[in-house]
Amino acid sequence: MRRSYGEAGLGEVDPDPIKQFLHWLAQAHENPVIVEANAMVLSTGGGEDLTSRTVLLKDVTAAGFSFFTNYESRKAKAIASSEQVALLFPWYAMERQVLIQGVATKVSAADSDAYFASRPWGSKIGAWASTQSEVLDERTSLEARYAEFAEKFPEGSDVPRPPYWGGYVVQPTTIELWQGRYSRLHDRVRYIQSNGAWKTIRLFP
Ligand SMILES: Cc1cc2nc3c(=O)[nH]c(=O)nc-3n(C[C@H](O)[C@H](O)[C@H](O)COP(=O)(O)O)c2cc1C
Repeated sequence: MRRSYGEAGLGEVDPDPIKQFLHWLAQAHENPVIVEANAMVLSTGGGEDLTSRTVLLKDVTAAGFSFFTNYESRKAKAIASSEQVALLFPWYAMERQVLIQGVATKVSAADSDAYFASRPWGSKIGAWASTQSEVLDERTSLEARYAEFAEKFPEGSDVPRPPYWGGYVVQPTTIELWQGRYSRLHDRVRYIQSNGAWKTIRLFP
């Protein structure tokens, strides 16, 4: 099980962590071994409510990292009680990970509408059909809800965004890059937001 990590180190990093992240994300997308390079593990809550799940990153801008979900799901309830979250991109095949801590807020209704409109019809109906994170008695109940909404909003018609579905943007406060290296002398670079500017530090591995 013991693997030796590569020689390619994390030398000069871009002073802008968003640019540096986009550079790594592009490399992860190009890597044929990595599936769903934009999948990230979102952790929320604390104490007994601490939990994680995977969501898909949809956009990265100076405003932060956005994803879409159900506004009544367990994660949405967790964010409503504490907007502090963590995002983790585990790109093992590249001996890399990126860990982001930040504050999650809802994106504008217009942004949620625009992204919802871009989704395939089946995904739109799926969003209507799922009361995400609630107990489902049996799978046929979900399929019946799907059929009900498929009839209400037939293929080819304008499917409105469900009021309980939309996006969040995570405004980062720290972004940490990890690059595996020989003899466990890995590189760790952490960007820390301070007074509107980014400071870079290195950490022991
Ligand atoms: C690869 C992958 C991508 C996923 N993407 C999303 C997503 O973008 N949005 C979402 O709500 N759930 C997504 N899920 C499902 C979540 O991991 C999770 O099961 C769901 O959102 C309910 O989480 P919650 O009960 O903690 O709110 C994804 C799961 C996987 C494995």
